[in-house]
Amino acid sequence: MRINNVTVIGCGTMGNQIAMQAALCGYQVKNYDLNRDMIQKAEKFACDWFASRVLKGKMAQETAAEAQSRLVFTDCLENAGVGADLVIEAVPDILEIKKQVLGSIDRYTPEHTIYASNSSYIVSSLFADAVQRPDKVVNFHFFNPALVMQLVEIVKGPHASGETIDTVMEFAVSIKKTPVLVKKEIYGFVVNRIFSAVTKEACYLLDQDIASAEDIDLAVRKGLNHPLGPLELLDMTGIDLEYHVLMERYKMTGDPADKPSAAIVEHFAKGEYGRKTGKGFYRYGASKEDS
Ligand SMILES: NC(=O)c1ccc[n+]([C@@H]2O[C@H](COP(=O)([O-])OP(=O)(O)OC[C@H]3O[C@@H](n4cnc5c(N)ncnc54)[C@H](O)[C@@H]3O)[C@@H](O)[C@H]2O)c1
Repeated sequence: MRINNVTVIGCGTMGNQIAMQAALCGYQVKNYDLNRDMIQKAEKFACDWFASRVLKGKMAQETAAEAQSRLVFTDCLENAGVGADLVIEAVPDILEIKKQVLGSIDRYTPEHTIYASNSSYIVSSLFADAVQRPDKVVNFHFFNPALVMQLVEIVKGPHASGETIDTVMEFAVSIKKTPVLVKKEIYGFVVNRIFSAVTKEACYLLDQDIASAEDIDLAVRKGLNHPLGPLELLDMTGIDLEYHVLMERYKMTGDPADKPSAAIVEHFAKGEYGRKTGKGFYRYGASKEDS
């Protein structure tokens, strides 16, 4: 199946950059959000990003202008759905929101539309029946920042057809990503299962006051050769996201070990979500400082 028109639902951290990457690689892209402030922020980010690439000599003016002309923002769900060959959802990792948003846009999309979820953890069989053709639903997991990170995980649920998987694998390569195929559904897929084990331990060490956030990150960077420590990375991906993910998991399993750690709960309650709010495990401004 040929993909020409891509709709990305959600103009947040992930959706905005996924939409930009697809537009850069030649697709006609609509980036939809119900929040107009988020649309404005995303439009400004795209504008500034393309301008700075040109200014730094990393992109030709013409390439930037063409990509921008292929990317439109909308707060109209019907407009977002009409003509979409591929819908990529990047709304918060809350099962009910995923179901609601996919069920709603399915009223306007053509019959052949493929639905790809950027969820970090939730397997698509939990929401595939929100649309009329569950065989067209797949997990398509990008990493943050989506314009930069190479890897995407494509997860085949029992409902997904081989054609759907092949089409999304090909699409991933066409937008210059490196896909890995996760052959069976598993909560958190591959990368986040490994990442969760590391962050869980880092938060435990912090909660127990075994070491400071800075020293935990330093130890992981220098001792394991990770480019970023786990707490720095949580600040980058969003403590709010981590909180919601862990709470959803806890709701599913009822296992207290799946609950967010004290540090995550505290930062979440204070609205300290990391880089996007200027404070998380660290403060962001002129210089990074342990909080
Ligand atoms: N942040 C990361 O590092 C990261 C990495 C990989 C995958 N993800 C996944 O990407 C998805 C989005 O995460 P994010 O960090 O971009 O979130 P975000 O909070 O930055 O953005 C979510 C956007 O969805 C919009 N939204 C909410 N409900 C909506 C609805 N019903 N219709 C349309 N738009 C709606 C919000 O207005 C917001 O703009 C999640 O599933 C998350 O697990 C996030």
